[in-house]
Amino acid sequence: MVAMRWFLRCIKPTSSLDADAIIDRHGEPFWLATPTSDRYPTLIELVGHHGAAGFVELSWSQEDMIENFGIMIHQSYRGRGLGTALLRALTAWLRRRRVVVVRGFVRRSDLNEHPHLLDWYARHGFTVTPVDSVVTAAFLTCNLRRRFGIF
Ligand SMILES: CC(C)(COP(=O)(O)OP(=O)(O)OC[C@H]1O[C@@H](n2cnc3c(N)ncnc32)[C@H](O)[C@@H]1OP(=O)(O)O)[C@@H](O)C(=O)NCCC(=O)NCCS
Repeated sequence: MVAMRWFLRCIKPTSSLDADAIIDRHGEPFWLATPTSDRYPTLIELVGHHGAAGFVELSWSQEDMIENFGIMIHQSYRGRGLGTALLRALTAWLRRRRVVVVRGFVRRSDLNEHPHLLDWYARHGFTVTPVDSVVTAAFLTCNLRRRFGIF
């Protein structure tokens, strides 16, 4: 933990979040870190030994509600289980922060690129509501209380 904090300080002024390390399919470790406020971070980065591998953007509408989130894994890191691990680590961390509801949406352009996206979110506890729109393909909602049990 101490080595990890030292490493994160060396690459940029981020602070690590209290979450377990994520190990990808190649055995490489990554951590969640934020260059923004620890209390209500709007950007959480997935940081490895070679820099950021992806990020999550969060819009807080209330202390216990994320109104919009977006997840991205950099192209060269995709298909190694990092998106799944990041989604799991994020929801578990938000649950510990007593967030109850997380909302987001899937752009049609992202769905065209990744036809498995809606199924992926559904498998990770999100309610997927398809939308008849050129821009948006579906709305996503995850009730963390239901997903992880009452806290
Ligand atoms: C969606 C995204 C975050 C997934 O990240 P990732 O690190 O590649 O995800 P994973 O390696 O954990 O794979 C997720 C699932 O998709 C599957 N998958 C990954 N790449 C795939 C591909 N090219 N074709 C089919 N399935 C694929 C994986 O097998 C995995 O399925 P599983 O849960 O059954 O194992 C990443 O592709 C991305 O950043 N895309 C661009 C931005 C985007 O669309 N974000 C989502 C906006 S709502």
